[in-house]
Amino acid sequence: MHMPTDKIVPQSDLYSRESTTARTPDENPLPVRVKARDVSVFYGQKQALFDVSIDVPEKSVTAFIGPSGCGKSTFLRCLNRMNDTIEGCRVSGLIALDGSDIYDPSLDPVELRARVGMVFQKPNPFPKSIYENVAYGPRIHGLARSRSDMDAIVESSLQKAGLWSEVKDRLHEAGTGLSGGQQQRLCIARAIAVSPEVILMDEPCSALDPIATARIEELIDELRQNYTIVIVTHSMQQAARVSQRTAFFHLGNLVEEGPTDLIFTSPVEKRTQDYITGRYG
Ligand SMILES: Nc1ncnc2c1ncn2[C@@H]1O[C@H](COP(=O)(O)OP(=O)(O)OP(=O)(O)O)[C@@H](O)[C@H]1O
Ligand SMILES: [Mg+2]
Repeated sequence: MHMPTDKIVPQSDLYSRESTTARTPDENPLPVRVKARDVSVFYGQKQALFDVSIDVPEKSVTAFIGPSGCGKSTFLRCLNRMNDTIEGCRVSGLIALDGSDIYDPSLDPVELRARVGMVFQKPNPFPKSIYENVAYGPRIHGLARSRSDMDAIVESSLQKAGLWSEVKDRLHEAGTGLSGGQQQRLCIARAIAVSPEVILMDEPCSALDPIATARIEELIDELRQNYTIVIVTHSMQQAARVSQRTAFFHLGNLVEEGPTDLIFTSPVEKRTQDYITGRYG
């Protein structure tokens, strides 16, 4: 059952406020794509996130790290209103995409999720052909005027996801017949097909072997030329390899956020230091 979450009230003072969790300086800040201020999330009576504020810059990869249950997925889901679909979940604070409140009642969540795509932990292709998995989004959003338009979208999405050469001769076979790593790239192609601005990835490699993982990491590095990417990962090595910024969450708080090299070499907070050196997690 789909229950709407409480809408976020636009608060201009909140919007114009600087994020205070960026503890480390950034010499050449990129333009901000997603801006969150004082975001709290409740599941029923239980508060899972506490006043999270962060700026996500465009055309870069931001990694969310932190121990299990600290609220990484919860916060990621706020960014495309996937929490709307969870009964009893309530979101407060402000989240803006390109300066517009994404919880504005006039905004259609389906449109939002085309602009802010999502890739999940477990590859989840539709039980349809490879072609149809990619064509589905463009079709419901009316992005193709003809069959040849659609063919072009499907091909370019599969190209960008680094899967085209492996599947071009079997486009009409089932997506579920691909290997796990290929299925995950198919899911990335499906997200790309609707030309999103932001791609959210929740532990996209946790079900993959090291070779498939390396392939996805390379792909993420290529995709950041054109997309704003937020990735949740339990792997410090992965965060260090793929991201330009890292945000450390702990017990529902965003403890610290900044350029990845600084977070990993000289974090300001002891909790961050303890986590990245493996003292807990
Ligand atoms: N659908 C839900 N209903 C109730 N509580 C939830 C729900 N989803 C998450 N929570 C709670 O919110 C808190 C944060 O969970 P979340 O899944 O965001 O953590 P996480 O950092 O992604 O953890 P993990 O690394 O294990 O994926 C946890 O206490 C969790 O039990
Ligand atoms: Mg999670």
